[in-house]
Parts: sequence; structure tokens; C-alpha cells
Amino acid sequence: MKLKNILITGGAGYIGSHISEMLFKKGFNTFILDNLSRGHQNTLLNGFFIHGDVGDEALLDQIFEQHSIDAVMHFAAFIDVGESVREPYRYYLNNVTQTLTLLNCMVKHKINYLIFSSTAAIFGHPLSPLIDETHVCHPINPYGRTKLMIEKMLNDFHDAYGLKYCCLRYFNAAGGDPCGKIKYFQARPSNLIPIALRSILTKSPMTIFGTDYPTSDGTCIRDYIHIDDLGRAHILALEKLWNSGSSYNYNLGNGKGYSVKEVIQSVENVTNQKLTVIHGCRRLGDPPILMANSQLAEKELGWVPQFQLLDIMVEHAWNAMQNAAHEI
Ligand SMILES: NC(=O)c1ccc[n+]([C@@H]2O[C@H](COP(=O)([O-])OP(=O)(O)OC[C@H]3O[C@@H](n4cnc5c(N)ncnc54)[C@H](O)[C@@H]3O)[C@@H](O)[C@H]2O)c1
Repeated sequence: MKLKNILITGGAGYIGSHISEMLFKKGFNTFILDNLSRGHQNTLLNGFFIHGDVGDEALLDQIFEQHSIDAVMHFAAFIDVGESVREPYRYYLNNVTQTLTLLNCMVKHKINYLIFSSTAAIFGHPLSPLIDETHVCHPINPYGRTKLMIEKMLNDFHDAYGLKYCCLRYFNAAGGDPCGKIKYFQARPSNLIPIALRSILTKSPMTIFGTDYPTSDGTCIRDYIHIDDLGRAHILALEKLWNSGSSYNYNLGNGKGYSVKEVIQSVENVTNQKLTVIHGCRRLGDPPILMANSQLAEKELGWVPQFQLLDIMVEHAWNAMQNAAHEI
């Protein structure tokens, strides 16, 4: 592949730090731009770190001029759904406005390839148990709307300026470095697995939001996808962009769901500790079941997820969190 120098925005975050390392191991030159608002520089094992904002045009000009960037992987965003409802201004500013600056700078510097971290949240309430790329996009919170707006901006930039992009809509990213080298913890985790593991580490109770859903055990079912499998999809998507000259959208999940209670059971098995659980009410806008149909990515990218077992994802996340436990 001719794409060599990759700018990774948000590369000090949970997913970005892992995929940066995968790219580095594959021989790419990695340039990591992160403002550390949510990420941690000490999760980075390799790569050239640049502290700053995705929306800082002067900094982007400097990076693009100095480092001959060939492609961008755009992970940087605020990602907490609840916070986006309380503080929409911050979300539209950080996620949408800053991305617009990034795209404009890419066009200015003739950088034509971008992989975008999109999300299942662009779809809103599922109309079918397995969500494929043809599913209607009707996000139900500001976070999802910021991501859908960026997808639409990308489409317009493709048509007007020839920017080639791939939107990867992750379902619930999970797991950690299978080799156990990358340490990671989130101070304010918003996903179930890190929340449960953090409760174990801090010996505090965790809440199950809703136990009366129409599912086998009454709790919500979600599709978890290992960050290593996400990393492979990013590299395959980059190759496809380079080889084909078009743009794409892919949903990325396992097509298999685990309930909240199954996740808690797995966390207890892996850590060999008991969680204190509080049964709370349903949260507004939480659908009972959310799962991906990823057949398009499997067919067109040749992508095959390798870490599908929940216990493995929990074990890898636990190892990464324990490595960083002293920072909690
Ligand atoms: N975690 C998931 O399950 C999940 C699911 C779907 C999509 N995504 C998407 O994947 C991407 C990465 O998510 P994550 O879980 O690694 O989140 P994260 O919060 O761990 O990482 C995001 C990183 O972006 C940085 N950042 C935020 N705004 C920035 C800005 N304006 N300039 C520079 N850096 C900035 C943060 O400091 C952080 O390091 C996000 O775009 C998110 O929307 C995540």
C-alpha cells in the first residue's frame, strides 16, 4: 500500500491508541494528534505525538506541511451520549465544527483519504434486530446527530472535492490489547464493560438500567466488537480506499448480542470477584436489542472478526485496566 504516513486524531483515546499501535506494527508512520481532553499520552507505545486540537487550523497546516500525511484516521470526538444531551453545544462544536476544519485543511493540502469513526448511534431506534447499512438513520441524541452530520459532510466533500472516505459505524467497542502491553483506563467510562470492571476495581456498586425488557433475562442486549477487530477493519478499509477510488460505509459488529446480565456474569468470572448490583429504571431511548449486520464489511473488505467471545473481550479489557490501575 502506498499510504504510509497516517495522522490519527484522538489517537490517545481508548480505540485510537490501540489502532495506532496496530498501524505502527504494520509499518505505517503514525502521527497522533490529541488534545488529551479524554485520552492519555502514556497509553501510546509508539508514534509521534502532537498535543493539540483537531480544529486548530494553523496546527493542521503545520502537520500536513511537515509530515507529508497521506491519510487521516479520525477518532477524535466527545462520545458520551448523556453528556451530549446535557451539553449539546460542546458536542456540536467539538465533533462537527472541528471536523469541518479538519476536512477543509485536508482539501487544502490535497490529502484525499479519511477513515471516520462513526457509530451505531446514527441509526436511532432499530427497526430490525440486525442493523445493516440500508437501515434508516434517525439518531435520537445529539451525539448520534453529530456523527450523522459528519457522514453527510463527508459525502458532500466527496462529491465536491473528491475526498475518499470510509465511515465505520462501530457498535460497542470492547476488549483491550491482546498482548497486554497497552494499558488503558477511562476516568469516566460510558460503556458497560469498563463500567462494570471499574466497579470491581473501585469496589463500588453498579446500576442495571432496566430489568423488564422483552429479552430472555429482562436486560438490554448489545453487540460487542473487539478493538483489535476494529483495527483490522480500519487497515482493510484504508487498503480499499487506496485501491478503489470510491467511498464507503460499513457497520461493524459481531452480529451476536450479550445481555447486561451476561456481561456482569462474564466480568465476575474473569475477575473472580462479585459485583454489587443496583436495579434501576430503564433509561430513556435505550432500545432492548441493538445488533449489527456486518455482512457488507465481511464481503467487501474480507473482514472476519477474530475475538467474538465475551469472556475474551472482558479479559483483555481487565488486563488493560489493571495495567493502569494505579492511575484510577
Ligand atoms: N467506544 C465505543 O464503543 C465507540 C462506539 C462507536 C463509535 N465510537 C467512536 O470512536 C471514536 C473513539 O472513541 P473512544 O472510545 O476511543 O473514545 P475516547 O474518548 O477514549 O477517545 C477520544 C479521543 O479524542 C480526543 N479528543 C476529543 N476531542 C478532541 C479534539 N477536538 N481534538 C483533539 N483530540 C480530541 C480525546 O482526548 C480522546 O483521547 C470516537 O469518535 C467515537 O465516537 C466509539
